[in-house]
Amino acid sequence: GWNMEDVSAEEIKAIKGTVGPEDHVICALSGGVDSTVAATLVHKAIGHRLHCIFVDNGLLRYKERERVMETFEKDLHLPVTCVDASEQFLSHLKGVTDPEMKRKIIGREFINIFDVFAHDLEQKLGTKPAYLVQGTLYPDVIESCPPPGSGRTHSHTIKSHHNVGGLPKDMKLKLIEPLKLLFKDEVRELGRILDVPVGFLKRHPFPGPGLAVRVLGDVTQGNALDVLRQVDEIFIQSIKDAGLYDTIWQAFAVFLPVRTVGVQGDQRTHSHVVALRAVTSQDGMTADWYYFEHKFLDDVSRKICNSVRGVNRVVQDITSKPPSTIEWE
Ligand code: XMP
Repeated sequence: GWNMEDVSAEEIKAIKGTVGPEDHVICALSGGVDSTVAATLVHKAIGHRLHCIFVDNGLLRYKERERVMETFEKDLHLPVTCVDASEQFLSHLKGVTDPEMKRKIIGREFINIFDVFAHDLEQKLGTKPAYLVQGTLYPDVIESCPPPGSGRTHSHTIKSHHNVGGLPKDMKLKLIEPLKLLFKDEVRELGRILDVPVGFLKRHPFPGPGLAVRVLGDVTQGNALDVLRQVDEIFIQSIKDAGLYDTIWQAFAVFLPVRTVGVQGDQRTHSHVVALRAVTSQDGMTADWYYFEHKFLDDVSRKICNSVRGVNRVVQDITSKPPSTIEWE
């Protein structure tokens, strides 16, 4: 592998050389490892001429906005504008059940918000931002042949690219992709060198459309998002407490749009079912469902039903990929 200390120094130098002394740069932070490390690198190179946006689309996990904003501001000192667009996203998603339609709407709304951010910034600065930072990784770049001189060879495990939407095409922003020759583990190493907290670097991947693909059907049904957040938090916290978080590629809960009969405290209930999904994987292309110990599952299930109102049944997804996908939509 490469020495990430060298890569870091070279990238910072390259960014300084590319971005003119008057140029401004924008970056959309997703809360994930890649965009965070990319932005941190650019921030080291050009400081306050970097302008980041983090969008709360109303589809984030429990306390996610607070948690990532704390890392951005307190640990990394990144200049970030946090936009709460929950109502905008959820109102456009109301009644929509088709998974691809949900993704399309989320992608479109994101572009709208990003556009407003870029235009507001232009007003404020009196000049158009010139560059856009993206946390594109090497496996995302190579379709058929690696960039010349990269020293990288073609990988057979290319992840299909399904990030939310694209970005505004009329903005004529030049791209800065400082991670585009790196693999995920190298990005984590680079992040460590840049003082990104290790706990943050180990976070599981999270899909761009967020909880929209984990509430089956209409995401605005009842209090589905709220129920899902609580269940997911219990599940993830239990996984962390059991010391299993780093072994698992991804773990999450899924809200099912059905009710089943239960009995809780002498009362007959007619409440929701949630499914737990945990998989191990190398790259997300294939995955194996994770074998938890019975005791672990028993504890989690009890905890969920005892503390989350509206849930009276917990099931586990015992399918690998293929034939299933990791997400349920
Ligand atoms: P699947 O469900 O296709 O997912 O087995 C493979 C990996 O990709 C993530 N995923 C997404 N990521 N936008 C994203 O940014 C999406 O629309 C999307 N769908 C799935 C999924 O969480 C897993 O890590």
